[in-house]
This record gives sequence, C-alpha cells and structure tokens, in this order.
Amino acid sequence: MSRYPQVLFQNRKLKRINTLEEYCQSGGYQALADVLREYTPQGVCAAVQEAGLRGRGGAGFPAAKKWESVPADGAFPRFLVANSDEMEPGTFKDRVLIHAEPHTIIEGIAIAAYTIQASKAFIFVRPNYEGSAAILEREIKRAEEAGYLGRRILGSDFSLEIIVHLSGGRYICGEGTALLNALMGKRPNPIKPPPYPTVKGLWDRPTVVNNIETLANVPHIIRNGPDWFKGLSLVEKSPGTKLFCVSGKVKSPGCFELPMGTPLREIIEEHAGGLLEGSEFKACLPGGASTRFLIPEQLDVRMDFDSMGEIGHRMGTGAIIVFDQKTCLVGATLNLIQFFARESCGWCTPCREGLPYLRDLLWRIENGEGKEEYIPTIRSMCKDMWNSFCALAPGAASPVESLLTYFEDEVHEHIVQRKCPFQ
Ligand SMILES: Cc1cc2nc3c(=O)[nH]c(=O)nc-3n(C[C@H](O)[C@H](O)[C@H](O)COP(=O)(O)O)c2cc1C
Ligand code: SF4
Repeated sequence: MSRYPQVLFQNRKLKRINTLEEYCQSGGYQALADVLREYTPQGVCAAVQEAGLRGRGGAGFPAAKKWESVPADGAFPRFLVANSDEMEPGTFKDRVLIHAEPHTIIEGIAIAAYTIQASKAFIFVRPNYEGSAAILEREIKRAEEAGYLGRRILGSDFSLEIIVHLSGGRYICGEGTALLNALMGKRPNPIKPPPYPTVKGLWDRPTVVNNIETLANVPHIIRNGPDWFKGLSLVEKSPGTKLFCVSGKVKSPGCFELPMGTPLREIIEEHAGGLLEGSEFKACLPGGASTRFLIPEQLDVRMDFDSMGEIGHRMGTGAIIVFDQKTCLVGATLNLIQFFARESCGWCTPCREGLPYLRDLLWRIENGEGKEEYIPTIRSMCKDMWNSFCALAPGAASPVESLLTYFEDEVHEHIVQRKCPFQ
C-alpha cells in the first residue's frame, strides 16, 4: 500500500482490470454527467487551467492552454487524439494505466472532447500493446452500451465516437505531428508549426493531441476540484500525481503513482525497493531514454518539470532507468543510440546522417577501436542535433552528451585500454 493518495491507481488490482461497474461505484462517469449537465466547454477549460494540469507526454505543456488554442470559430468536425504510442525505451506507464483503469482514460477523453467540441477521438496505441488495445476496444463498447459514449451521451446534445488505432510501430509515430500524418495514412514525418494542429490538424481540422495520462486526470479534477488537485503535489508549479515507472538494477521495478515533486532518491530507494544486492547507484536516466544521465550527487532532486529543469535535466515521461557500478555506460549509451539511429524518420540531415555516425563512433570506442579525437567530434555533433527538424534528435543526443559530461573518464578508459574495461 502506498502512503500517498492514489488517484489514477485508486482501483488498481493485481492481475485484474477494474470493471465499468467498479469504476462507477468509485464515482466514475459522475464528472462526465456533471460536465454535460452543468458546464460550458469554457467552464471545463477554466477548471483544468485552475488545477494547473500539465501534459504527461514529456514536455509538461499546460493542458487547458492547448485546448484553448482551438479557435472558437474553428471548423468542424474536430478531433482529439489520446497518445499512448509509448515507444520510448524504459517507458511503460500508459500500458499499466490502461490495464489498471481503462474507464478513467475513456471518461477523460469524453470530457476533453466535449471541451474542444470534438465528435471523434482516436486512441493511438503502440502495436505491440495488442492486449491493451483489446481492453480499450472492449471497454469502449461497454461504455457505449451504458450511454457514456456514442450518440447523445447521457441524453445531452453531445456525441462522441472513440476509435482505437494501432500505430505503425516506429518511435517517431508518437511525436504529436508525425502521429497526425500516420493517422491520415501518410508517411510519419513531423510537421513544423505554425499552423499548430489545434488550428489545422487531422484532415485540416482542429485537432488536440494529449497523452493518455494527462487525459485520465481530467475526470478527477472535475470531481474533486482544482484545489484538491493542487494539494496532491509536493511542489507548487506541477500539481497532481505522476506515474513513475522504474526499471534497471532495482529490487522492485514497477509503475508507481506518487505526488509530483517526490524526491528521486525516495522513488528509487523506497518505492522501487532500492538497488539489487551487491549493486551501487552509478547513474540513472530520469525520464526515459531521451533524457540525460543523472549522477549520485543529484539524487535528491524532486521529480517535477521545474525542479528537474533547474538542475539541467528533464523529467520527460517519468521513466527512471537505474544503472549500477558494474554497468558500462558507454555500452548502455551505444545501445540507446542504436535505437535512435534506427528510428530516425530520415527527414532532416543532422538526425539522418548524424545519429548513425554517433553510433559508429561509440561502437568503435566500446569495441577497442576508439581514438581521443572522437571525443570533441562527438561533443560538437551532439550540439548539431539541436539544428534538427523535431525533438527526436536532441533527445537522442541527451544520453551521449551527458555521458561525456559526467563519465568522460570512463570513455577515456575504453580508449586507453583499447577494450571495454567492464568485460
Ligand atoms: C520522438 C518523439 C516521440 C514521442 N512519443 C510520445 C508518446 O509515445 N506518447 C506521448 O504522449 N507523447 C509522445 N511524444 C510527445 C508528443 O509529441 C506530444 O508532446 C504529447 O503527446 C502531447 O501530450 P501532452 O501535452 O498531454 O503531454 C513524443 C515526442 C517525440 C519527439
Ligand atoms: S529530427 Fe530525426 S526524426 Fe525528427 S524530423 Fe529530423 S530526421 Fe525525422
């Protein structure tokens, strides 16, 4: 049992999905009923703005601000996309959420769709998550039968259809604009705004893309109020709870719902059970594979968007990958850059050409063929990644750049010994 309030995981059960009936017994779909009876779209937006809900997909963008940017006179039909592509290595929170409480996601989608007046929503799911997609399809049908989705929901004028769409299975498909191209059956290259998708998105109509964890918070904000939501957090600027998924060299890897601002040390040492017997903390990637290595001296940082930013890190998706003193970080970084190089969509030169080159240099260092002159080249290439078209390339450079910042000696050791010192 967690010592913190559980919101998204309040009905989480071992090996069993919460049913529609159980969700309703715990107050589920009451927020949707209240919204359709008492709230204008602007009223919902105001409540979510007051609560300070920030996007859980990685960037922390305020949800209400995004919804408000749909023009009042924007064309119809409008669309909402719930993003659970979740291809970033180390991230598995959306999958756990779908398996724990699918109806809080469905209710959140319905309220957000009402707010932007969308009549169709898509849940964009990683293709390997076949089980999750099947759960969503089954529970959407049940929600329709109960009158929470479909035509004239709960007797109101609002109608909504939700479609579960399996992604093509590439990391770039999760990027908000590439995702829209993918959904339209086009090649999933990102699209540079303006216009933003909220003005011109799917089939040129206003479209909002939110992470499913973001949307799952919305019914709870409506049900319990903005002040309650703010009170869940340990910090002021990032209200609510956060799903943290911890993997790597810890005793109890898993997904934990904790207050925003929980210290990273507490997440690893208490909730994830501490490091394995014989392991010492060497570093972690705090927010998924596209964040920077964080070192023992930084372990007391609070996990929220601003506290992480203040020490030059990103909370990302809250996916914490823990490495111990026996792990070669050159090898670990090589593994990640192999993934990113393979997942580049090929649209722009720094990423298409640069990531495979970075991968080759790291491969040589790891395999005893490294040279000292590679190090400044790698550093300058990491900087070049910021000239790319989308955030994939700078994200890919983050572990590499931080490897050189915090573990340059380990890289030198590989070059001097002409082999990996961990083998
Ligand atoms: C390469 C790449 C992959 C991404 N994958 C995901 C993803 O799987 N899920 C997600 O919610 N956001 C992902 N994002 C972030 C989205 O672009 C977008 O910011 C997010 O879905 C918006 O939701 P939010 O405002 O609720 O956080 C990705 C971004 C990049 C650059
Ligand atoms: S940075 Fe990479 S993934 Fe993004 S547009 Fe350029 S080539 Fe494609």
